[in-house]
Amino acid sequence: MKITRLIWNILNDGERKQLSLLFFLMLIGMGLEMLGIGLMVPFLASFSGSRASLSILPDFFEGITIVHAVLMIAGIYLFKNTILACILWFQNGFLSSLKARMSQQLFAAYLSKPFAFHLDNNSAPLIRNAFSEVGTIVGAGVQPVLYLIAEGLVVVGILSVLLWVNPMAMLIAGGVVLIMGVFAYVGTRKYLYNLGAEKALNEGNRLSHLQEGIAAVMEIKLFGKEREFIRRYARWDNASARVMKINATAQNAPRIWFEVVFIVAFAILVLCWDAQGKHHAEIVSTLILLTAAAFRLLPSATRILSALNNIQYGLPMIELLNEDLKPENQHAREGLSFENNIIFKNVSFRYSRDSPMILNAVSVEIKKNETVGVMGISGQGKSTLVNIMAGLLSPTSGEVHIDSKPIKDLEVSWYSHIGYVPQQVYLLDDTIKRNVAFGLPDQDIDESRVWAVLKKSGIETDVKGMPDGIETEVGERGARVSGGQKQRLGIARALYREPALLILDESTSSLDVKTESGILETLSGLKGQITMVIVSHRQSAIKDCDRIIKVSGGSLEPLLV
Ligand SMILES: Nc1ncnc2c1ncn2[C@@H]1O[C@H](COP(=O)(O)OP(=O)(O)OP(=O)(O)O)[C@@H](O)[C@H]1O
Ligand SMILES: [Mg+2]
Repeated sequence: MKITRLIWNILNDGERKQLSLLFFLMLIGMGLEMLGIGLMVPFLASFSGSRASLSILPDFFEGITIVHAVLMIAGIYLFKNTILACILWFQNGFLSSLKARMSQQLFAAYLSKPFAFHLDNNSAPLIRNAFSEVGTIVGAGVQPVLYLIAEGLVVVGILSVLLWVNPMAMLIAGGVVLIMGVFAYVGTRKYLYNLGAEKALNEGNRLSHLQEGIAAVMEIKLFGKEREFIRRYARWDNASARVMKINATAQNAPRIWFEVVFIVAFAILVLCWDAQGKHHAEIVSTLILLTAAAFRLLPSATRILSALNNIQYGLPMIELLNEDLKPENQHAREGLSFENNIIFKNVSFRYSRDSPMILNAVSVEIKKNETVGVMGISGQGKSTLVNIMAGLLSPTSGEVHIDSKPIKDLEVSWYSHIGYVPQQVYLLDDTIKRNVAFGLPDQDIDESRVWAVLKKSGIETDVKGMPDGIETEVGERGARVSGGQKQRLGIARALYREPALLILDESTSSLDVKTESGILETLSGLKGQITMVIVSHRQSAIKDCDRIIKVSGGSLEPLLV
């Protein structure tokens, strides 16, 4: 079956072994459960004096006093349940660490996707997948498949006993379950699959609207649009509730379905036998056997059908996750040293097939330790140009070379040379210190270096005035610092890396002239020591550059300084 192949695909070698072990343990568990029930019957029979009814079973308790028998049974139960508890512990341990491992792997896979992937994709479905939907692999994949095999074995076992004791009863009970089970499964399969796909869509949209509403809270309040945003969320939330209702019913429906099927089948049988003029006593004895078989068979058949429904419902998500779990190859050639230049050779770029070219066959060379200004009116492609230079976006055609090596082969090792202050600096909901030394573990953070770069970025005095200095929390997306402070923290973060290439994209746009000139002074101090690319609308920011390039109409024009 497709689901088993998908699951096997998703598991790593260790997990495959654990899963096989788990299955083996489940069989032992089932055996022990049967032993438990199997012992109670002869015990009760022995001591109630109705031994005769169990002639096929050996009499375990012959010649044993009731006290000894009870102690023996208690001992066996203690042993059985200890083993069952261990199996349960192992099973839950396996399933939860599988879920955790997959959530981490998904996060890693999403982080390894190219920057362009994240420009094209809303974050909500990615968050949905890594946060909650990994549970589908366990809840609608691994678990139901295990139940399916285990219960399948139970059903085969019961049917074989029945076949031996009463082939007629077996044919009727087995036939009815099989035909009606297949009927119910085939009838609902496609519907449940589509429902699962709809669920994925609803959950993604719910999350997306919730995130968006909370992120845009200021605008929503000022525009007085609370109701409208709640209405948009409610649309997907209600759709999600509807899908959940249908699915929850579908998971429980097999019990109701099979009971009805059995009763109707019984009624038909009795009617037929009655019409044939069979003796009532004969009918009743056959019915007793059929009922006994049905009672043992029904729960198993129900669980099998529920598991199948569950799998169908989860399948679209599992298929999707199976794709997403594959990590992207990142090129990491260690030890790239940037010695000479960055060269753009006939680089053209557009964001997608149906969007216009932003850059049209541009060629430019930036020498090491040069300071280059980039100008141009809004929307002409300045940020796009520097993103290509940083290796975050790949040219649609043409090539970018670093020291004559194609940038696409370098990626990760090229990133390590770059200090990039994007147009929108993203601050972590953490302290100033950790924001500046981005992603470094605490013990590796050099506080004096943090202070030094804060000074260079013109924010030292601001930080000294804050209650906890560099330990001050900046809030989500830097909600507790000003726009200009955010930019300066971005510059400090870029400088902390001691980059060979510093890219500033409108990094002083929110600053007053005085603060800006302080930063420009720092940059002048770095002139000739590192390569700098400074994007700005403002003449003041790029006046000290060696060269200025203007981005306009898809091409680059040199401007005289
Ligand atoms: N992810 C994207 N997908 C499709 N088009 C995009 C994307 N990002 C930007 N664009 C388009 O590419 C063009 C160039 O954008 P870019 O951000 O490079 O401009 P810019 O020169 O930096 O502008 P600004 O001065 O306003 O920052 C714009 O017209 C924009 O609409
Ligand atoms: Mg820009």
